Amino acid sequence: MIDTNTTLYCIFGNPVRHSKSPFIHNAWFKEHQINSVYLAFEPKRIEQGINAIRQLDIQGASITIPFKTQIIPYLDKIDPDAAKIGAVNTIVNKNGKLSGYNTDSSAAVRSFKGIIELPDKTICILGAGGAAQAVAFGMVKKNGDVIIVNRNQTKAEQLAQSITGRAISYQDLEQIKSIDILINTTPVGMFPDIQDSPVPDDFLSPDMAVMDIVYNPLETQLLSRARKKGCLTIDGLSMFLHQAAEQFRIWTGITPDIESMHRTITNGDPH
Ligand code: ATR
Repeated sequence: MIDTNTTLYCIFGNPVRHSKSPFIHNAWFKEHQINSVYLAFEPKRIEQGINAIRQLDIQGASITIPFKTQIIPYLDKIDPDAAKIGAVNTIVNKNGKLSGYNTDSSAAVRSFKGIIELPDKTICILGAGGAAQAVAFGMVKKNGDVIIVNRNQTKAEQLAQSITGRAISYQDLEQIKSIDILINTTPVGMFPDIQDSPVPDDFLSPDMAVMDIVYNPLETQLLSRARKKGCLTIDGLSMFLHQAAEQFRIWTGITPDIESMHRTITNGDPH
């Protein structure tokens, strides 16, 4: 029940109305009997979000597009990994001091837990934007051999250099052999363009594990084709739930149940 002791958590993004975070965090607060609510806000500028956190004593916030980098100068403290990645998706407010974390990177790694061991695997990441940066950082931290493939070759090379990986172009994709893991971080295949796949079918081989961070739809064209080829597939909801669960743990000290939330959302989308 909401009362005078209820504390507030929120997400800042623009646009943010499609976000599943309020459904997920409010369900976990309820499940663990924590007197908190989680709301979505769509500020024009992130300064407005920062002011709101301080003035309303908001306890924690999720940060999403387009604010993950913009928020950094406003923080009192930043976690060393988030600083290296250059993006913050989680804020903790402790007595008015704001600390920033990045849970996307560890979420990408955790999505493979129990499915495939990451050390020494060759991992091909499609895209070189903010999401790719966090995913690549996590994979390199686990001793993965990372190859970045991106439309804009300069961006691919910059990201590859920053994580000590390699960059190649889409045209040269067929030259690389023995990819163990393929991760799509581009929006290709996202609703409404659900027939699109970021790589040609013949690039996929049955011994590859394929992850898509797109979760709308849950089974993207890439995952559907990969599954038909016999690849292990990991959907975008896995990484999304892992990043949310790590936020919840940072805020409350409780690790929530991801599997049952995955089933709830898969069986009956709350939106
Ligand atoms: P995010 O934070 O989700 O990573 P982003 O920083 O805008 O978003 O990055 C999106 C990535 O998807 C970029 O690497 C982009 O490629 P470019 O750097 O060449 O622009 C990639 N991307 C977007 N649309 C794409 C498309 N239709 N085909 C291939 N790559 C695409």
